[in-house]
Amino acid sequence: MPIIAPSLLAANFLQLQQECDMLNASEADWFHLDVMDGRFVPNISFGPMLIEFFRKATSKFCDVHLMIEEPGNYAELFKKSGADMLTVHLEACPHLHRNIQQIKSLGMQCGVALNPHTPVDLLKDILADIDMVCLMSVNPGFGGQSFIPYTLNKIKQLRAMIDEHALKVKIEIDGGVTLANAATILAAGADVLVAGNTVFKSPDPIKTIAALKAL
Ligand code: DX5
Ligand code: ZN
Repeated sequence: MPIIAPSLLAANFLQLQQECDMLNASEADWFHLDVMDGRFVPNISFGPMLIEFFRKATSKFCDVHLMIEEPGNYAELFKKSGADMLTVHLEACPHLHRNIQQIKSLGMQCGVALNPHTPVDLLKDILADIDMVCLMSVNPGFGGQSFIPYTLNKIKQLRAMIDEHALKVKIEIDGGVTLANAATILAAGADVLVAGNTVFKSPDPIKTIAALKAL
């Protein structure tokens, strides 16, 4: 069964308590929390302060996606705010190995995210050190964009790399996941589906989450 990680970026921020209550009552596995700094990506979202509130509002796993430069300067802060996993972008980390070790030594799981143009081969040497790869299937920065089809090839390539070494690394797909394409994404080898607009703009989010979970 896939792990379903609704992205709160698409939530109604004037009703965050209700949105959290809805997710808590649903089959959603994780809260996917998108942090943007206006430098690594051309948008600004929220930071550790809000994650602290989400932490108090749920006992579900908090999957924090850092779309920020110099994530190492903030890893401790995100640990304190309650993140269970920190995902950093390979493109933002010239010393990725150091960032991974830091996140793990703080007691969090560690993910590495790749922009659509970044080949999965670049992860070869550090794959065994991480818990998850987040393949961006849109250009990071905004919700509601369309899934980039060649991501499916990247999923297949990465699945083969992971299986070749019998690793437990999860593959997360982030961006443009819908009820129409989710089955194909899972068939290619994904484990975790992030869904923002598909969940929060749906007339019945709980039912939509259940439909994704049942795939
Ligand atoms: C995009 C974010 C995504 C976003 C996905 O930069 O990383 O998590 O919220 O939104 P949808 O599912 O609407 O494409
Ligand atoms: Zn994300």
